[in-house]
Amino acid sequence: MARIIPIATDTDKAEAVAAATEVLLRHRPVAIPTETVYGLAADATHASAITSIYETKGRPRFNPLICHMADLSMAERYAVFDPISRNLAEAFWPGPLTLVLPLKENAGIHPLATAGLDTVGIRVPVGFTAELIQSLGRPLAAPSANSSGRISPTTAQHVEADLGEKIEVIVDGGPCPVGVESTIVKVEDGEIRLLRPGGIDADAIEAVTGKTVQRPKASGTAAIEAPGMLALHYAPDASVRLNAARVSSKEALIAFGTGDISGASTAMAVFNLSPDGDLAEAASNLFDFLKRADASGATGIAVAPIPDEGLGEAINDRLMRAAAPRGTEG
Ligand code: TXA
Ligand code: MG
Repeated sequence: MARIIPIATDTDKAEAVAAATEVLLRHRPVAIPTETVYGLAADATHASAITSIYETKGRPRFNPLICHMADLSMAERYAVFDPISRNLAEAFWPGPLTLVLPLKENAGIHPLATAGLDTVGIRVPVGFTAELIQSLGRPLAAPSANSSGRISPTTAQHVEADLGEKIEVIVDGGPCPVGVESTIVKVEDGEIRLLRPGGIDADAIEAVTGKTVQRPKASGTAAIEAPGMLALHYAPDASVRLNAARVSSKEALIAFGTGDISGASTAMAVFNLSPDGDLAEAASNLFDFLKRADASGATGIAVAPIPDEGLGEAINDRLMRAAAPRGTEG
C-alpha cells in the first residue's frame, strides 16, 4: 500500500522530500504532483530506476519519457539549446512546456529514458517536483502516474486508485492546477513544431517567439514524432461520444458553458467542465470528470462541443483519444 504524504506545511514538505528521496535512491519510482498531472518519477540516469517506471505502468518501452529538471542550467547539462528553444525555456519554465532537444552525449541521461533516441524531452515543473530534483541532484524521468493507456491522474487519490498497490510513496500536492499534460514542441531548422498540444497554448508560444507554430500535417503524423501519441490513450471503460447535441438517459454528460444539450435533465450524471466557458477551468477538471463520468455506471459518455482554440486544442486532443475506437493502440 502506498504511503500518501501531504505537503501542506514546510514540515510536511521536508518529510515528503526525505521520504521520496530515500525511495528514489533505491531506484524505485514515486508519485509526485506537478502543475499538469501527477508523475511517476524515477532517477533518469539509472537503468533499473527507469525500468521500474515502465514495469509499474505497463508502458511500451519504445515510448520515451520526459526528463524533469530543477532549472534551465541543469537542463543545459543534458541537452543542446538552439536560440528559439532557449527563448521558450526562459519564457515558460517553470511551467507546462516540454522541449525536445538534441541530447548531449554521455551527459548521463540513461538511453532507456529516451528509448534510444538522440533527442530528449525536457521540462522544468512548477513547485514540489523541482525542489525534489534539486535535493536529489539528478533529473527525474516521469510519465503520468497511471497505467499505460488510462486517463492521467490529477489528484493523489486518482494515483492511489490505479497504482496504490504497486508503489511505495505518493506525494499529495492536491489537485493539479493545469490538469492536462505539458505542451511538447521541437524546434527544427528554425521552425517550431507542435508534437502534443498541452498546458501552454500555441498562441502563447507564437506571442513569445513571433513564429507560427507548425501543426502535424495529417492526423497520425504526431504519432510518429512523439511515439507516445498512440491513438488509444486516456481510455475510460465507457464509450465516449464527442460534439454531442443530445444525451440519452443511459449516458453521462460532460458539458461546457451554458450550451443547451437536449436530454441533460434525464442523463445518468452531468458534469460541467466550466459553467462560465473558461477553458483553463475546463482543462483542470477534464480528467477528474472523465473518471467520474466513467464511474457513474453510464454505458457511454456524451461530451458537449468544446471550442478548439487556446487550451481547447489540448482538451479536444485528449477527448479524441478517449473517444478513439478501441483496439487501435499499438
Ligand atoms: O505534463 C507532462 O508532460 C507530464 C508530467 C508528469 O510532467 N508527463 C507526461 O509524460 O505527460 P508522458 O510520458 O505521459 O508523455 C510524454 C510524451 C510522450 O508522448 C513521448 O512520446 C513524448 O513525450 N516524448 C518524450 N521524449 C521524446 C522525444 N525525445 N522525442 C519525441 N517525443 C518525446
Ligand atoms: Mg501519459
